[in-house]
Amino acid sequence: MKPTDKLTQLQRQGTINPQELNLAEKWLGPARLQHTLAVLENGQLLCSSFDGLHRQQTDFFKTIIFHDLARDLPRDTQQQLATDYRGKLDQLELKIPALWHGPAAARLLVEKLHYSPDDQIVRAVAEHSTGAPKKNLLADGLVVADFSSTDRKFAAARRIRDNFTKKSLERLTLETLRYKIGFCLQKFHRIHPRSVEAYNRVIR
Ligand SMILES: [Fe+2]
Ligand SMILES: [Fe+2]
Repeated sequence: MKPTDKLTQLQRQGTINPQELNLAEKWLGPARLQHTLAVLENGQLLCSSFDGLHRQQTDFFKTIIFHDLARDLPRDTQQQLATDYRGKLDQLELKIPALWHGPAAARLLVEKLHYSPDDQIVRAVAEHSTGAPKKNLLADGLVVADFSSTDRKFAAARRIRDNFTKKSLERLTLETLRYKIGFCLQKFHRIHPRSVEAYNRVIR
């Protein structure tokens, strides 16, 4: 099945509506769509392990489909959309362009599909690069599914994926954030406080 046919199938099944299908078709280029579908497949696996996610399956799948909508936009467009979503980007966020596409996609959902900025789906999309400081099951599921999808070839991704049936979603989120933050430390990259807040929220 072609990747675009998969999107159409999701619309026929009622996971996304026609406007959502249009937005996904318009903004997700071929490579991005392929990644998105790999994350979706991983998300389906997570849903079969975790009842909480299973109960919110449709919202979770929408969250996955929308999460990288803005990833291929020019940097300045991402920055503008992200600024529109947040009101203002903080000093650190301004220095980390990789963090802009999440809130930029959130802004597209508000602007084009009239979601509330506080909707759980929108918040999860906005915070998918850092992790969510406040409890949000969709955000935790997305962080895990995105990091460990089959198109990621690094060992840590496979380790997380192999533990879907062995560990709690909270633990998988914690381990994913640990890898992400650890990578930033190793590479001398900046770490946004939201990543640390998300990590502290899930640690026990
Ligand atoms: Fe992303
Ligand atoms: Fe992604």
